[in-house]
Amino acid sequence: VVVSIIGLGFMGGSLGLALRRDAANTVVGHDPDPQADAAALERGCVDRTESTLAAACADAEVVVVCAPVAALPAVIDQALSAAPAGIVTDIGSTKEGIVASIDAAQRARFVGGHPVCGAEVRGASQARADLFDGATWLLTPTHDTDPARYATLHGLISRIGARPVAIAPAAHDRLVALTSHLPHAVANLLCSQAAQGRIDGHDPLAAVGGGFRDMTRVAGANPRIWVDIFLDNRVALAAALREHRRLLDDVVAALERGDAGYLARWIGDAAAARRSTLAAAFGDQASDLHRLALHLPDRPGVISGIAQAFGAAQINIEDLALEHFSPDRGGVLEVVVAGADAAQRALQLLDEQGYAAVATPLVSDEDAP
Ligand SMILES: NC(=O)c1ccc[n+]([C@@H]2O[C@H](COP(=O)([O-])OP(=O)(O)OC[C@H]3O[C@@H](n4cnc5c(N)ncnc54)[C@H](O)[C@@H]3O)[C@@H](O)[C@H]2O)c1
Repeated sequence: VVVSIIGLGFMGGSLGLALRRDAANTVVGHDPDPQADAAALERGCVDRTESTLAAACADAEVVVVCAPVAALPAVIDQALSAAPAGIVTDIGSTKEGIVASIDAAQRARFVGGHPVCGAEVRGASQARADLFDGATWLLTPTHDTDPARYATLHGLISRIGARPVAIAPAAHDRLVALTSHLPHAVANLLCSQAAQGRIDGHDPLAAVGGGFRDMTRVAGANPRIWVDIFLDNRVALAAALREHRRLLDDVVAALERGDAGYLARWIGDAAAARRSTLAAAFGDQASDLHRLALHLPDRPGVISGIAQAFGAAQINIEDLALEHFSPDRGGVLEVVVAGADAAQRALQLLDEQGYAAVATPLVSDEDAP
């Protein structure tokens, strides 16, 4: 397939690397910034670059627009004219506005897209060929979409290792508001609320623990990107926040009436929902995952020592997180392994390296309905 990538930054560059793993694809790129073109060529993200969008799209069967959100409508429009036979898609994080902006005569050849993966880095120099492996890639075909061209795009995305999932444009925006934009907004609120002032002389931010850090990992994400994303999806995000406020009011009311039954049901429902997110991430293994937690000194090589010992014992690390306290206090390492046997062997290996670890099931039986 001849693919044209317009915008050779981190995402466009990574897509080029992923496509070029298959010799059957030819990737032609264009970026208005000549340095971005040069970086993409140097990393092997493209077979060649062209100095104009028109030249880059001329022979394309598929055009993927990977420009910044604000530039998408104009660039998609140019790409549709420049690739008269091809299908055009984009990778922006909201879809309803973009799809609505497409000229009626061109709707058959445009399908909105949104790969649900990424990183907070910029430029093709950081590009990764495996970025899309196993990632969900949301696509927003409409009644107007040409089926044959859609099949070409769908096949291309599957073959680079991503999982295409079709969804209506408005539903897409509601879905990402709930699963991505709302958590970012709430993480920002948790941080700014804790930063509002001292409690009896104590700075709350100096007293936070692992729970707070887990909840706020995405707080303060790059404003260059996130102001645009919040504004772009403001209707769906505002609706999700209003629903959040309604649910908060219910919790406040339950606290005020001292309603233990409500609180227990509330926690139980949340536990069930969380179990299904683990099932989605880990499949059938979810009910058999064990979390090992241990205190770790801040020293080079400690993680590789543990990872290598597990590797030699054929214990697969399903997930790994490090919560860092400070250089002198070190941090807490959490490792997730599958199966009670593996957890026991892992505890023994850790013991041999002098770590006193504890293992707990990730999904406890007590939580089960
Ligand atoms: N980074 C992520 O995690 C992520 C995830 C999903 C979707 N996206 C979307 O991918 C797109 C690109 O993000 P990125 O992370 O690669 O950013 P980036 O800054 O690394 O790359 C953007 C590139 O677009 C180029 N560009 C600017 N104006 C352009 C125009 N008019 N025409 C063509 N190219 C233009 C820039 O020169 C730059 O090389 C954005 O729309 C973003 O919302 C990003």
